[in-house]
Order: sequence, then structure tokens, then C-alpha cells
Amino acid sequence: MFNIFGNNPSSADGQDNSSHKTPNKLNQQDNDLLIELKGIQKEFKTDAGPFLALKGIDLKINSGEFVGVIGKSGSGKSTMINMITGIDRPTAGEVWVNGTPIHKFSENKMAKWRGTNMGVVFQFFQLLPTLTVIENVMLPMDFGNKYSPRERREKAMDILALMDVDSQADKLPTMISGGQQQRVAIARALANDPPIIVADEPTGNLDSKTAAQVFDLFQKLVEQGKTFLMVTHDDDLAGQLSRVITITDGLLDHEDNQPSQPILPAQLEEVS
Ligand SMILES: Nc1ncnc2c1ncn2[C@@H]1O[C@H](COP(=O)(O)OP(=O)(O)OP(=O)(O)O)[C@@H](O)[C@H]1O
Ligand SMILES: [Mg+2]
Repeated sequence: MFNIFGNNPSSADGQDNSSHKTPNKLNQQDNDLLIELKGIQKEFKTDAGPFLALKGIDLKINSGEFVGVIGKSGSGKSTMINMITGIDRPTAGEVWVNGTPIHKFSENKMAKWRGTNMGVVFQFFQLLPTLTVIENVMLPMDFGNKYSPRERREKAMDILALMDVDSQADKLPTMISGGQQQRVAIARALANDPPIIVADEPTGNLDSKTAAQVFDLFQKLVEQGKTFLMVTHDDDLAGQLSRVITITDGLLDHEDNQPSQPILPAQLEEVS
């Protein structure tokens, strides 16, 4: 079987700046800092006027952490996640990943960078409806250039098998159940074997046994050196994490800002 757990030998350093040094140059905490949100605000324009969904988020996540994000519906979890993945832009503040200010990226560069370095599981899956399940999983591979065109179908099948949805490979997303779609969305996020995985309620549509199996897989990915950020409403799963951050009305609880433990160096790739 395709070794989704294998460490990626390639690595790249981001741009240097005083608080984001490359490994082995600074103290332990700064060495391992991978994701940093600084003063993030997000204002949405609504018919009723501007609405401040994020009110100044400061957050540090170290490489190798498995971080849970909890909070009531509407508190800003997805909005915050979208800042980290670059799916949406902050109104104010900065997003640094591996020493790189990704909030400054153009749309094009952002998409390319994300495709290589981040796997994203969307709350509402966002599978492309006109592509089959396996084509959805192969799509990031087509953009990523990590695998040769010959390898892609086989890799995609292996990841679908890992998620136990390989039998659905040739169906369109609308033809499979919500839980199956969710597992396909996870498979797509793993397609390029990214060092960072950001998942918004990735087990929200799964029964408890399947959710536990998927969570086990996530833990194995973290043990292999991935950094994982997961929004969840599942108290059982959140209870198994060493770090859980709580967002309330667009703000993080104060003590949630700092990393829990430094573990492994990041393995990100640069894009030109
Ligand atoms: N595009 C948008 N335009 C206007 N308001 C928005 C937009 N997206 C989100 N919001 C508002 O921002 C707030 C935070 O939304 P968000 O989706 O981040 O919540 P959430 O914590 O992910 O909730 P849930 O648990 O229901 O997924 C909500 O009040 C929401 O209505
Ligand atoms: Mg949400």
C-alpha cells in the first residue's frame, strides 16, 4: 500500500525574519513555530452593515502539533481556518507559515503554495460535482507535480482504500452518501502528502466508529510529523488532543495562544 505516512524528504525554508528563523538558529520555541496568526481581524459586509467575525486573533502553532479548535456555531472557527489556508483574506493582521507571510501571496501563488504544503478538508466537502470521486482526489496531484501522471491513479486508489471508499471511485460525488463524501474530501486533502493538514469538522458526518477510525489515522499522520489543525464538535475526540483552543465570538481564549509542545521540523516546499 502507498505509504501516506512516509516522511517527505524535501524541505524548504521560508523567508527569514526576526521572529521566524530557520531551524537550529534560535531557541527551541522559535525553531518549531510553524503557523502564526498576528492580530487577525475579518470583517464581512452584510446587508445589515459590517460584521466583525474575527476580532483580533493571535495564535502560534508549532510543527508537529495536533490542535483542536472548538467553539459554538457562528463563533468564527471556519473563518479562522480560512485565514490559515489562505482560502480567505484577513481584513487586518498577518498570517505566517514556516516564516512566510502568506497573506501577501497573490491568488495564484497562494493556490500553488497550498496545493503543495497544505491539505484542506472543507466543512461542506467542496468536491467538484462533475468529476468522479477518484478524479477529485487526483486533481491536487495534477496541480502538484509530486507524482508522475502514471502514478496518480494508483496513489489516489490507495488513499481512497485507506479511507475505505475505494469502491466508490468511479461514482460522481452526488451518488454517494454524506459520510462517504466526507471521507473522499479527506482523501483529497491527503493526496499530495502535505506536511500541514487543516480540517473543518472532518468527522462531522461520520458515525462514531468510523469517526474513531479516521481520528486514529489523523493521529498516525501526526506521529509521522504532520501538523494537524482540526475543528470539531466532538467532545470525545477533542478530549484526546493535547491542545484544544476555544474561540468565542471571534476571539480566542487568552491562554490558548501558545504552542503546547515543539516536536518535529517542518517539511514545507517553496513555490516560485
Ligand atoms: N461570507 C460571510 N458573510 C457574512 N457573514 C459571514 C460570512 N461568513 C461567515 N459569516 C459570519 O461570521 C460568523 C462566524 O462564522 P463561521 O462560519 O466562522 O462560524 P463557525 O464557528 O465555523 O460555525 P459552525 O460551527 O456553524 O460551522 C457567523 O456569525 C457568520 O454568520
Ligand atoms: Mg464552521
